[in-house]
Amino acid sequence: KTESDDFVIDDDLILKIFKPRADFTHKGTYGKSIIVGGSYGKIGAAVLAIKSALKTGSGLTFVLAPNCGYEILQTSAPEAMFIEGGVKNIDTIDEQENAVYGIGPGLGTEKETEKTLLKFLENHKSPLILDADALNMISKNEDHLKLIPKKSIITPHPKEFERLFGKTENSFKRLKVAKTKAKQFGFYIVLKDHHTQVVNPEGKVFYNITGNSGLAKGGSGDILTGIITSLLAQKYSSEDAAILGVWLHGKAADLAAEKHSKEAMQPTDVIDEIGNVFLDLN
Ligand code: APR
Ligand code: MG
Repeated sequence: KTESDDFVIDDDLILKIFKPRADFTHKGTYGKSIIVGGSYGKIGAAVLAIKSALKTGSGLTFVLAPNCGYEILQTSAPEAMFIEGGVKNIDTIDEQENAVYGIGPGLGTEKETEKTLLKFLENHKSPLILDADALNMISKNEDHLKLIPKKSIITPHPKEFERLFGKTENSFKRLKVAKTKAKQFGFYIVLKDHHTQVVNPEGKVFYNITGNSGLAKGGSGDILTGIITSLLAQKYSSEDAAILGVWLHGKAADLAAEKHSKEAMQPTDVIDEIGNVFLDLN
C-alpha cells in the first residue's frame, strides 16, 4: 500500500458526492433520522443533533430521549418527533423501516442504557452512527466492537478513540491503529480533531481541511452526529455521508467564525450556517 491511499477532501470530491434535491420528491425520499441521546442535564446534546439533522435535509426526524427532555426538545425543534421513554424504548422504533440511527450525544452511560444498547446492536443490521457515550459504553469491552453493524460510522474524538482502541504514542501511530481497526471491524472511523480523518474499511484515509478552533467547544460534536445521520438517512453511502458530513460541518464552522469570531461562535451558530453551505453547493 502506498501514499495514494490518502486523500484530501477537496471541492471536486464534494461536488461529486453532493446530490441536489430533485423536484418530484417528497419527505419519504429523504429518509428517516432517529437521534438517540440526551439525559437529565444533557438534553442540549440531543437538541443540537436533531437541529443539525433537520438543517441537513432529513425527510423525517425523530428523537428518542428520556421524558424529562420532552418540552425542551419539542419547543426547540418542533419539526422533530419525540419518542418517549429514552433508550429503553429503542426497540419500539426498530420497526421504522430504513430509519437511520445516530446514537450517543448526551446519552449517559448507565448500566441499563448499556445493556439496552448492546442488545439493540446485536439485532440491528443496517449501518448507523455511534458517537460520544455510545462509544464510551462500547469501549468497556473489545467484544462489543463486533456488534457494530458493518459500514456503520463511529465518530470518536481523540479521548474516545483512546478508550476504544488504546493509547498511541502520536497521531501517526493513531492513524495506523484506526486503519487496522476499520478493516478488522468493517466500519468507518471519523477520527475527530483539527483536520478530521475519515478512515474507510479498506484503510483509505480522507483528510478534512474545513473547520477551525472555534469548534473546540462542547456541543460541536453533537452537530456532526446530526449531520451525518441525516445524510445517511438521505441514502448517501456511508463513505459519502462521512466525507460530506465532516466537510459540511467544518465549512459551516468557517462561515460562523467569519461572522462571529472563533471565540464567540457557538455550536448553534454553526447549525445556522449549514443553510449557507448548501446555498454555495447548489
Ligand atoms: N479545529 C478544528 N476542528 C475542531 C477543533 C479544532 N481546533 N476542535 C474541535 N474540533 C471539531 C472536531 O473535529 C469535532 O468535529 O469539533 C468537534 C468536537 O467534537 P467532540 O470532541 O465530540 O465535542 P462535543 O461532542 O461537543 O463534546 C461534548 O460529548 O463526546 C462527548 O466527551 C465529550 O463530554 C464531551 C461532550
Ligand atoms: Mg462528542
